[in-house]
Amino acid sequence: MSAPMTSTCNVVVLLSGTGSNLQALIDNVRAGENPARIAAVISNRADAYGLQRARDAGIETRALDHKTFDGREAFDAALIELIDAFNPQLVVLAGFMRILSADFVRHYQGRLLNIHPSLLPKYKGLHTHQRALEAGDREHGCSVHFVTEELDGGPLVVQAVVTVESDDTAHSLAQRVHAQEHRIYPLAVRWFAEGRLVLGEQGALLDGQLLAASGHMIRT
Ligand code: GRF
Repeated sequence: MSAPMTSTCNVVVLLSGTGSNLQALIDNVRAGENPARIAAVISNRADAYGLQRARDAGIETRALDHKTFDGREAFDAALIELIDAFNPQLVVLAGFMRILSADFVRHYQGRLLNIHPSLLPKYKGLHTHQRALEAGDREHGCSVHFVTEELDGGPLVVQAVVTVESDDTAHSLAQRVHAQEHRIYPLAVRWFAEGRLVLGEQGALLDGQLLAASGHMIRT
């Protein structure tokens, strides 16, 4: 079993949008349920509402506009510099709408988490709720995973399953999935901050045990 983390787990959150997952994490930390410390929130969009949420919570924010860089590699190199100034043990992608370069992903290997609104490996990419409905799926949900070079493809940590109702629309389904995201992302961050969650050679380990390919499953 991995040793519990004794020092503070600094977390840097990257986002591009409204930041409801950031809010869930802020609330979880504030409630004393999570030993993580959110050191900074960084966005590629200066007008992202998630930055306002961070400011309201007294968390440092930075904006780095990808459009002012000459290509993905240059942007990612500047982003790494910005992130590392906060000395994070963990980097959390919370609706960060940028594809990350291989160099970036390698730099944060084992300490980079993402949340995705589907039961991965199903529906990588966008429009996941609509795609689940069109496929006639009875179950849908969300996944937290370690990030590797494969888009939405790294080892799964935790998934929450939501039942699809016959009258669901993409909007109603998205709302229920979002509510589950707000449960499982703080949970995964807590496990990491407690030193219980690590990325091993074979996949994600929780308390020293290799997690199933689907990660820890939560049924709602
Ligand atoms: C979530 O649906 C998450 O799964 C995806 O981006 C969205 C971010 O939502 N990666 P929010 O900004 O946290 O509300």
